[in-house]
Amino acid sequence: MNTPVTHPRLVQWIQDVADLCRPERIHWCDGSQEEYDRLMRDMVAAGMATPLNPRKRPNSFLFRSDPSDVARVEDRTYISTSSRDDAGPTNNWVAPDELKATLRGLYAGCMRGRTLYVIPFLMGPFGSPMARIGVELTDSPYVVCNMRIMTRMGRAVLDALGADGAFVPCLHSVGAPLMPGEKDKPWPCAQIEDKYITHFPEENLIWSFGSGYGGNALLGKKCFALRIASVMARREGWMAEHMLIVRLTNPEGRQFHIAAAFPSACGKTNLAMLRPTLPGWKAECIGDDIAWMWIDADGRLHAINPEAGFFGVAPGTSYQSNPSAMDTLKANTIYTNCALTDDGDVWWEGMSEPPAHAIDWLGCDWYPGERHTAAHANARFTAPAAQCPVLSPDWENPNGVPIDILIFGGRRSQVMPLVTEAFDWDHGVFMGATVASETTAANIGAIGKLRRDPFAMLPFCGYNMADYFQHWLDMGDRLGNKAPRIFYVNWFRKSAEGKWLWPGFGENSRVLKWMCERVEGKAQGKHTPIGIHPQAGQLDLDGLDIHSDHLEQLFRVDPADWRCEAADIAQSFQMFGARLPARLQAQLDQLRARLA
Ligand code: OXD
Ligand code: MN
Repeated sequence: MNTPVTHPRLVQWIQDVADLCRPERIHWCDGSQEEYDRLMRDMVAAGMATPLNPRKRPNSFLFRSDPSDVARVEDRTYISTSSRDDAGPTNNWVAPDELKATLRGLYAGCMRGRTLYVIPFLMGPFGSPMARIGVELTDSPYVVCNMRIMTRMGRAVLDALGADGAFVPCLHSVGAPLMPGEKDKPWPCAQIEDKYITHFPEENLIWSFGSGYGGNALLGKKCFALRIASVMARREGWMAEHMLIVRLTNPEGRQFHIAAAFPSACGKTNLAMLRPTLPGWKAECIGDDIAWMWIDADGRLHAINPEAGFFGVAPGTSYQSNPSAMDTLKANTIYTNCALTDDGDVWWEGMSEPPAHAIDWLGCDWYPGERHTAAHANARFTAPAAQCPVLSPDWENPNGVPIDILIFGGRRSQVMPLVTEAFDWDHGVFMGATVASETTAANIGAIGKLRRDPFAMLPFCGYNMADYFQHWLDMGDRLGNKAPRIFYVNWFRKSAEGKWLWPGFGENSRVLKWMCERVEGKAQGKHTPIGIHPQAGQLDLDGLDIHSDHLEQLFRVDPADWRCEAADIAQSFQMFGARLPARLQAQLDQLRARLA
């Protein structure tokens, strides 16, 4: 093997993988534009990608996945630790030896007829003490091109790795070997029973097999930056969270940094790129999905975005809902499972009026009024963060940004008020531990059911969730009076007639303003049994046409509903048994006492 590095461990690992997977050739990715262009040209020639009209979307491509490979596969995702208890009750578990034996069987010869790409990548800005290196080995050129957008990738990372630097080994195969003379499929992948997204946190190791979908295949993202990083973070005393990061500047020029966790497809990207409707307020995006946070020398919680791009849900994204995302997507973007218009552009539900005709995500003719959507509900864009018009100049600051406010939230048509401030850190951790949301298309499974998704980390926590709760409590103890304030929001509450009560989008800046004013000690709050709400007149509703009855409904705390909520929370805690931190049980007991 010709290697551009002298890193014996890395070279040996690649050799071992090649011996097992039997690729036709090995390509070390340099991360250059030429390399990206060549891979795209090859994929277009092979019928895997459709170039979009360069006058509409320069240097952009559309991919259509296999219909079985459209989302993360949570029931095929494993945390494999020596002891089952270390993975905990929220993760699928198989013992490492057994899981590795199964996967070795699947990997044997799985790259026949294909190229093995070596992708050195960095999570976090160059020069940051928090940045970590990974190396993904994959047989998918689609993955290479996506990783070039989503991470810092290529030659510069190999240089940073040196001869013996630490890296997280990430092995990926689409699981579809090519026999001699066999024509490749547009989207090769394995059947569902053979898909495995596996993590071995005791070795910082990731093995993924059988899927080309982003969350299963771009291993820097969910697998490394959340599942493996959450374990590293606990070991080393920091936090890897499913959070966007945004900077808000008030009319006086004071900056506030917010990190917010919402379950998948609850509008994280929209909030990350918020355009405030309040005069004089400015918002800048730092990240839309993942935050790595640590206690810096100043004693405050600092955060970086480990990613370099956005892998966002396309449907629903429009110039109304998220103009900055729309501007980010104008060029150099990879689209997956969107519809193709007759003039060579992409379209998805919620973008604009439907075109008179399109090719749907399955590659078939589509006309408005058809029963199925033109774009898949989880159709995605992959776009460079640097193209975002509201990106903060500090988005690559190696020292991160100091976090003032942490937000949790979910999609709840009932029960949850628009905004609630936690009484203190422990109560905020309780709020995080009890996040719940009505499910969407981002994960395979039933849509519209309420699911508890603690800290929006249910699919992403790489260890026992009860220990993760304790880690949050410990971080609060260390932060003391420098801890960020914690809030819970719900933009999605509906009236009895089923209408949204809150306009959302840019108007959410009104809620963020109240939070900033709470941090400054300016705004008054009112204690309720579930937390602190804005006192009458404290939420800035100037210029907003909202009926007082709707406002009352937005903040209503119905004791009967909340007693049911407490019962549901109690049930969701049961699975943790004695490992549930006593301080969280105490929070639940106190909530019940306040509701009595
Ligand atoms: C995502 C997700 O893709 O959370 O970000 O599913
Ligand atoms: Mn996410």
